[in-house]
Amino acid sequence: VGPDSGDMACGEHGPGRLAEPRAILAAIGAAIGAALADGPLKGRHVLVTSGPTHEPIDPVRYIANRSSGQQGAALAEALRDLGARVTFVTGPAREPSPGGVDVVPVVTARDMLAAVQAALPADAAIFAAAVADWHVTNVSGSKMKKDGSGRPPALEFAENPDILAHVAGLKKDRPALVVGFAAETDDVEAHAAAKLVRKGCDWIVANDVSPATGIMGGGENAVTLISAAGAENWPRLPKDEVARRLAARVAAALRKPADAGAPGGDA
Ligand code: C5P
Repeated sequence: VGPDSGDMACGEHGPGRLAEPRAILAAIGAAIGAALADGPLKGRHVLVTSGPTHEPIDPVRYIANRSSGQQGAALAEALRDLGARVTFVTGPAREPSPGGVDVVPVVTARDMLAAVQAALPADAAIFAAAVADWHVTNVSGSKMKKDGSGRPPALEFAENPDILAHVAGLKKDRPALVVGFAAETDDVEAHAAAKLVRKGCDWIVANDVSPATGIMGGGENAVTLISAAGAENWPRLPKDEVARRLAARVAAALRKPADAGAPGGDA
């Protein structure tokens, strides 16, 4: 785009001015539009969950986790760039939501389940959110105060719905491809393979989030893609490159629905 011609800060006149922001935006829009016109996921609807959930304790406090939402946002972007219509159900993430996708902001795991149910049917669903396992049942209606006794408040918990397992188990409206993530700190492959079976999904993207890896909240990811066909170790890559490779696999699987159980293709 550009440069435009005209007077410049250095006092000279001619080509060298920054193009008008509107012209830059229009060019970007046209380039994206052209790229999407014949992407392999054109006409497909893909659901992505992302980010942490916040589970309230009282009106000003909540329980959360360190998920940045980076991997989920990168995935939504990569799927969009292959032409998919993307519904992006996101908890309160640090990472901004990508443009060009339908963003559904949620707070709690229960909100996330409702938003996911409302977004179905979808051709594929990818569950990248770090959903809290429990929510507090005795949420205080007003800010909890220290009562001078030195005793901490007694919080009571109930398990959250498992959104991935719920969608993978649907009889009606089950997406053709259901993908979960498994953030583990030890025995990554074994735990993830067990999770694939327990949750009933087609693929698990497993990663090691032990603090030494710097993966959770960091810019890179080293994943193992697990399906009924076996496990495939990917090298450590920037999260957006992991997203692009995964999006390409999703496109390949949806092209050949019979192969949805096997990752196949090249990483
Ligand atoms: O059981 P665990 O939390 O390790 O499973 C991780 C996978 O399950 C992720 O894909 C996550 O998005 C999904 N999940 C979910 N709902 C939950 C818990 C996890 O969708 N309540």
